[in-house]
Amino acid sequence: MNSGDPLPKNIVLVGFMGCGKSTIGRKLEHLLGYPLVDTDQLIEQKTGTPVAEIFASRGEDYFRELEAAILHELAAPDAPRRIISTGGGIVTRKRNRALIKQLGYVVWLQAPVDIILERTGRNRDRPLLNTDNPREKVESMLAERKPMYAAAADIEVETVGLDAREIACGILESARYHFASGT
Ligand code: S3P
Repeated sequence: MNSGDPLPKNIVLVGFMGCGKSTIGRKLEHLLGYPLVDTDQLIEQKTGTPVAEIFASRGEDYFRELEAAILHELAAPDAPRRIISTGGGIVTRKRNRALIKQLGYVVWLQAPVDIILERTGRNRDRPLLNTDNPREKVESMLAERKPMYAAAADIEVETVGLDAREIACGILESARYHFASGT
């Protein structure tokens, strides 16, 4: 993007696995009418391979490169406004954090570890959590990633105790203010 280009007005959801990015993303899509895209799904469409299989066959670094390529595509100058839900580890690469920030208003969704474990325990398609002690793994990954989410985000949103509609309405209000003030 050239420095003279207007700030793209996407809403980008970041946050750890199981923090509600897909659910809140769908609610935002419904309320705002912008289409929802999900970086994991875009990668699967592009490669024809499930995320878990990409991790197993090509490794995490390769997957992060695919995430960067998708972020580049989403930042195309003629791209429509979207709700962009991202994979939980997309912020672990500095380059990806910079790309995310260029895409629009970045919302960091948070949830307590117990809720993350409950939600992510329901399926086994998250390769990084296929371990003997998921709680320990979630806690250590969260500690490592929190500063990265914070660096990428414009706002942090604690989701516990609120339903998806309430959270989405709050996000929309703050996004409107953000875009109107041109920050
Ligand atoms: C990952 C999160 C997943 C997916 C991949 C890696 C991570 O996305 O991108 O399994 O590193 O936290 P969700 O956050 O949508 O589960």
